[in-house]
Amino acid sequence: MATAPIVIPENDPKNPVPFPLPRLAGMDNVPPHVPKELIRSTGLPFSPEFNENPYEFFPRMHETLPPIYYDVGPMQNAWQLIKHEDAFFALRHGEYFSSASSTPFPRDPKDYFYFLPIEIDPPAHRKYRAIVDPLVNPQAVLKWEERIRTLSNQLIDAVIEKGECEFTEDFARPLPVCVFLDLMGLPQDMRDQFVTWVVQLLKNMDPAKMIGVMKEIGDYLNTAIAEKRRNPDEGMISRIVHAAPNGEPLSEKEIFGFVFFVFIAGIDTVYATLNNIWYWLARNPERRHEMIGDPGNINAQVEELLRVFSVTFSGRILKQDLELRGVKMKAGDRITSVLPACNYDPEVFPNPREVDFHRPRKPILAFAGGVHSCMGAHLARLEIKIGLQEWLRRIPDFQVKPGVDVKYVPSAVVGPEPLPLVW
Ligand code: HEM
Repeated sequence: MATAPIVIPENDPKNPVPFPLPRLAGMDNVPPHVPKELIRSTGLPFSPEFNENPYEFFPRMHETLPPIYYDVGPMQNAWQLIKHEDAFFALRHGEYFSSASSTPFPRDPKDYFYFLPIEIDPPAHRKYRAIVDPLVNPQAVLKWEERIRTLSNQLIDAVIEKGECEFTEDFARPLPVCVFLDLMGLPQDMRDQFVTWVVQLLKNMDPAKMIGVMKEIGDYLNTAIAEKRRNPDEGMISRIVHAAPNGEPLSEKEIFGFVFFVFIAGIDTVYATLNNIWYWLARNPERRHEMIGDPGNINAQVEELLRVFSVTFSGRILKQDLELRGVKMKAGDRITSVLPACNYDPEVFPNPREVDFHRPRKPILAFAGGVHSCMGAHLARLEIKIGLQEWLRRIPDFQVKPGVDVKYVPSAVVGPEPLPLVW
């Protein structure tokens, strides 16, 4: 029987409205067009089985799952794409894949706003990137190099004599928070408060608590927005507040949703990546020494570590029916590109589990691709690179504190914590 076509509404940034289609979840809510043989419950990314060893789970997906399957979970049901080629297609074909309602953060339906630029499709999306890209393009981020080096060394200074640290608290979280504050034009004395907010909002799965924290963060960001309106500076908030693409200033809601999303996107992604990398380095002394012995190859090392330790996913919703690899999907279906699995696709990265710093260069999907590809990718690469250079220069030998069983926390951004290290 033919089902009535579903119309995905245009997401108009000037008039934000809650997305009308419900987020389906659970076995009782599998649409009738989904073939039974393609239904799975992988538990990704919250289940204990997944969090037991995520970076073995991702490569194993290619050995145990169909390339496209319908994942049924407690929070959301969605088609999952694990082939590099398929995710690349989804990320680059906005005519099929909309990013409306792509983030799961709860908002007041009576005072709704979009997280920008992620929840807006082209062509409207382009104007937001045009506002901020000049601050974070490869040339622009070079000016951050010395600042990130200084911050990294200050964090190392605080722990080096102790011979141990909790890497998350002492390095991985404060580094991206400090960089974020500088980038946005916010004062460094907000560091501890932002660290707390990141944890409370992004490592929390209770929507009621998330709403409370979002309100607190929102109140602070609104005050900062008002201040930048009065006193413009070089930071990103000021740039967004004073932008007037085609002569038209952004609305209050556009400004708020934009500034808020940079906070959501730019901190825990970096710290989860740093934690993954340091956890691996702590357990692989010979690979650590290989890196130290080949400093000229640092960019390739960072790229390969981002391939094997990608931390997040990309959600979309189908705007029109689509058949991919013989799988018939329908308008209104949710799609998740499992980016970390795509980076282990053996057809693109032979022998994918091996960390190979001399791998032929292929596009990795850690930062997604297409129009929504990560705005902060160049800055994030720089933070990882300088963090590595300075840490390995000053603390070349370190290990996980004996007796500690490091665990992965259930989160949409995959990383182990806490991470106690000794040297
Ligand atoms: C290792 C660190 C990072 C990772 C792995 C990462 C990953 C990603 C991914 C996968 C996307 C695309 C999401 C999608 O297509 O649905 C994205 C988008 C985005 N990221 Fe990042 N990110 C990182 C760091 C940052 C930083 C440092 C910033 C800001 C300073 C940032 C800001 C953004 C923004 C604003 C978007 C939305 C872009 C758009 O919609 O056009 N990210 N990031």
